[in-house]
Amino acid sequence: MRAWTSRLLLLLLLLCAILCFISAVLGDTDQNDMAILDEFRKGLDNPELLQWPAGSTDPCGEKWKHVFCAGSRVAQIQVANLGLSGSLPQDLNKLQMLSNVGLQRNKFSGKLPTFSGLSNLQYAYLSGNQFDTIPSDFFVGLTELQVMSLDENPLNQSTGWTLPQELENSAQLMNLTLSTCNLVGPLPDFLGRMSSLRVLELSYNNLSGEIPATFSGSSLQILWLNNQDGLGFNGSIDVIASMTALTQVWLHGNGFTGPIPSGIGACTSLTQLSLNGNQLVGIIPENLTALPELQSLKLDNNAFMGPIPKVKYNFTYSQNSFCQSTPGLPCSPEVTALLDFLQGVNYPLKLAKLWSGNDPCSGWLGISCSANKVSVINLPNYQLDGTISPSLGQLDSLTDIKLDGNNLTGTIPQNLTSLKSLKMLNLSSNNLSPPAPKFSNDVTVLVHGNPLFTTSNSSGSPSGNGSPSPPGSSSSSPSGGRSGSNTSSKNSNKVNVLIIAVPVGVGVSIIGLVSLLLFWRQKRKESAFTAPSSIVIHPKDPSDEDNMVKIVVVNNASNSTAGSDLQTGMDGGASNLHVIDGGNLVISVQVLRNATRNFAPENVLGKGGFGVVYRGELHDGTMIAVKRMEAAVLSNKALDEFQAEIAVLTKVRHRNLVSILGYSVEGNERLLVYEYMPQGALSRHLFQWKQLNLEPLSWKKRLNIALDVARGMEYLHSLAHQSFIHRDLKPSNILLSDDYRAKVADFGLVKLAPDGKNSVATRLAGTFGYLAPEYAVTGKITTKADVFSFGVVLMELVTGLAALDEDRPEESRYLASWFYYMKTSKEKLKAVIDSSLDVTDEAFESISVIAELAGHCAAREPHQRPDMGYAVNVLAPLVEKWKPMNDDQEESLGIDLRQPLLQMVKGWQAADGTTNVSSVSLDDSKGSIPARPAGFAESFTSADGR
Ligand SMILES: *[C@@H]1O[C@H](CO)[C@@H](O)[C@H](O)[C@H]1NC(C)=O
Ligand SMILES: *[C@@H]1O[C@H](CO)[C@@H](O)[C@H](O)[C@H]1NC(C)=O
Ligand SMILES: *[C@@H]1O[C@H](CO)[C@@H](O)[C@H](O)[C@H]1NC(C)=O
Ligand SMILES: *[C@@H]1O[C@H](CO)[C@@H](O)[C@H](O)[C@H]1NC(C)=O
Ligand SMILES: *[C@@H]1O[C@H](CO)[C@@H](O)[C@H](O)[C@H]1NC(C)=O
Repeated sequence: MRAWTSRLLLLLLLLCAILCFISAVLGDTDQNDMAILDEFRKGLDNPELLQWPAGSTDPCGEKWKHVFCAGSRVAQIQVANLGLSGSLPQDLNKLQMLSNVGLQRNKFSGKLPTFSGLSNLQYAYLSGNQFDTIPSDFFVGLTELQVMSLDENPLNQSTGWTLPQELENSAQLMNLTLSTCNLVGPLPDFLGRMSSLRVLELSYNNLSGEIPATFSGSSLQILWLNNQDGLGFNGSIDVIASMTALTQVWLHGNGFTGPIPSGIGACTSLTQLSLNGNQLVGIIPENLTALPELQSLKLDNNAFMGPIPKVKYNFTYSQNSFCQSTPGLPCSPEVTALLDFLQGVNYPLKLAKLWSGNDPCSGWLGISCSANKVSVINLPNYQLDGTISPSLGQLDSLTDIKLDGNNLTGTIPQNLTSLKSLKMLNLSSNNLSPPAPKFSNDVTVLVHGNPLFTTSNSSGSPSGNGSPSPPGSSSSSPSGGRSGSNTSSKNSNKVNVLIIAVPVGVGVSIIGLVSLLLFWRQKRKESAFTAPSSIVIHPKDPSDEDNMVKIVVVNNASNSTAGSDLQTGMDGGASNLHVIDGGNLVISVQVLRNATRNFAPENVLGKGGFGVVYRGELHDGTMIAVKRMEAAVLSNKALDEFQAEIAVLTKVRHRNLVSILGYSVEGNERLLVYEYMPQGALSRHLFQWKQLNLEPLSWKKRLNIALDVARGMEYLHSLAHQSFIHRDLKPSNILLSDDYRAKVADFGLVKLAPDGKNSVATRLAGTFGYLAPEYAVTGKITTKADVFSFGVVLMELVTGLAALDEDRPEESRYLASWFYYMKTSKEKLKAVIDSSLDVTDEAFESISVIAELAGHCAAREPHQRPDMGYAVNVLAPLVEKWKPMNDDQEESLGIDLRQPLLQMVKGWQAADGTTNVSSVSLDDSKGSIPARPAGFAESFTSADGR
């Protein structure tokens, strides 16, 4: 027995020895696989980092680093994070047994090889490289694929790319992460059908459209669709409620609309929900905030309404239309009833944005009050779509409800009959169904133009005045019911309307205007700084033949709405009322034509940023600057910039930022009106003073300018209620007033900074010479890119040299790098100081500090740069020490924004020869006069940040 065993052992040993000998001669590795590995190595710029033995041809047998085999075949290549650069062999898919490839976070570049036919591949980690092309058959035949990660690769940058249908055949796919890799188009339907998919990360692409219905019931756990470039995703987020396995949902930075579905209570595993930066509306459902696992909820920058929920986890909610500013407080009963009404009509976005705060009498659009109670709801022709909420029955001071010309369906709620003061209920031209409840004889009820109300229904209708009448009968006129049920006038509706509506309209206009003027006059006496919060002059209403100017006063409650309403304002067709929040003026093109003498060439102030800037003078002598987008360049990009510029300027007010006074959108014209800065751009005074016969700027003026710019930028970065990145700070965007105080201009390129301090991958914008290196290289931007540009501006103030000048010798061509070197010694620094400066010892001391600050700000690595607050802190004492300027003069900068806007408007209107004051009518049909306009001065000074 024993002998037998030992003999067997010996035999085995012998066998083993023979096998080892054979393999030592031939090698363990499939030689075709070896050839691909060799190609892989040769394609690298730094193959030594792999530490693969030279001359060896047996990676499997010799267990090369980073290579793992299954038998003689290469199964894995794992080279994450090695710093490898170079390109991949284009026949990588010949590694037939490859199951797991980890190339993430290297510097691989060029074209991705196709992975087509890699039928054993389970894991592919390719993120964080510089691959610039993805072949169209890349995903074909990946039947075993479980993880595909391509995040952060500049794939097909110019055209973008889409996920091919073939990917649907990868039925085991669990993780698909494709953030920041230039995907375009809609979210493919088939992704919703992939039943193993758990993780779908598609942030920072250029995707758009709705979340497809196929996602309903999907088992996804992580869904990231946030921060799409361009318009982003839209449509409702209802489908989320059916995806009950979700744990992380990031939808921020898109254009989603509608309310949060209350069914979201079914997503009991949800830990993170980010909905910030969309156009969402409605009241926050309780069964969202009560979700058991929720740790982070972000709702900022939408148009949510109602009370702010009180929760224990991380919760951000600024820039919405909530009724209170403190979590947990309920809304007033009136507001609650009005919000129920709004819910019935599916929260039209414009109203959701404008009806914020807890006081409907503070100038809510379409609401008028008497004795501080809601008395009129006036929203005719407002495209309201939905039903009439019975909650209106609780607004017991209502005298008039005018909802004619909408798309209201359902029945007229019984509850409205309990309104004791109701006089007028105009529901004509809707889609309502009978029966109508019985109203008292004092109420005029108009239901003509509702197709379902016909003669045969009159049995169920109220008797008397309000009786729904056969089409064409007299009671269908606005005045029909008042004089009794028998007003059987033979006039057609049209005539009746004309006779009665015209005088009423004019009467209301005049009375309204007069009372508004009286009101403001009185208000002005109380406080010189009080002005209406915001007036929108709507110069051209397509439905208005006589082209009357309309004024709508918009509420400006402190927690007023987020974002501007440009979308609706600019598309013209969808709505005929252009309202944007934040104290803006729409000014008629005609006024601006007159002010600029029909955009005369001699009034051109400058060109750039897709438009020409003109000097203009209004009738009252106010100087303005008008930026006109040229019709020829009204590409989408220019329109985007136009919108971006208005959106930002309306939100950002600071004495060191150029203010917008108004804008115009008519036909192809896109005009922006700014305060006029008499001394023009800093670049003129720094680089062109000789040609232009100007005085060179003294050091004192330069210091003040530096501090002004730093303050403006600090505000933009951190003190405004949101963080903004300018992206194109340079002397031609810094404008000077008569006393050489500076304001930062041209926010056309500003993109809203993301919530955190994270960088946003953005299309490269800006101007060469001022671009921060990381921005130029990666296109990723943070506020630190502005700090870099500010550093370059400081260098220009010190040297009088432009950031980039091809005519300068090679070494000094780029001011930023040259200056960095020149500031290293006192002698060198002296040599580069602008020769027009009078460099006393005292001045040199201060110049040295600025040179140091400039270098600090323009440091190579973003994290080495200070933030703008630091720059302000360095500059402020210097300015103080260096013969301080009189601070009191600051208020005289440019236009006095605290002048009552109506007065300015009146002046401008008068300047427009075609319009006189009597034709300025209060837009009775669409606007309302606030009983108590919020103090403009308050909001201005608080926004001023000091
Ligand atoms: C899939 O994604 C999740 C979430 O990011 C991650 O935790 C997990 O490790 C991923 N799975 C694989 C196999 O990479
Ligand atoms: C959430 O609340 C709404 C109303 O409060 C209710 O209709 C809905 O069924 C709830 N959904 C879940 C999933 O709890
Ligand atoms: C809340 O936010 C803070 C700061 O961002 C973070 O440190 C903390 O972990 C968060 N808490 C939860 C429960 O997510
Ligand atoms: C409508 O009226 C009924 C009875 O008067 C009342 O119970 C109900 O609460 C009212 N509905 C609303 C929404 O106000
Ligand atoms: C009006 O409402 C009906 C029913 O809700 C809807 O089908 C229709 O599309 C709406 N029309 C408009 C113009 O909104």
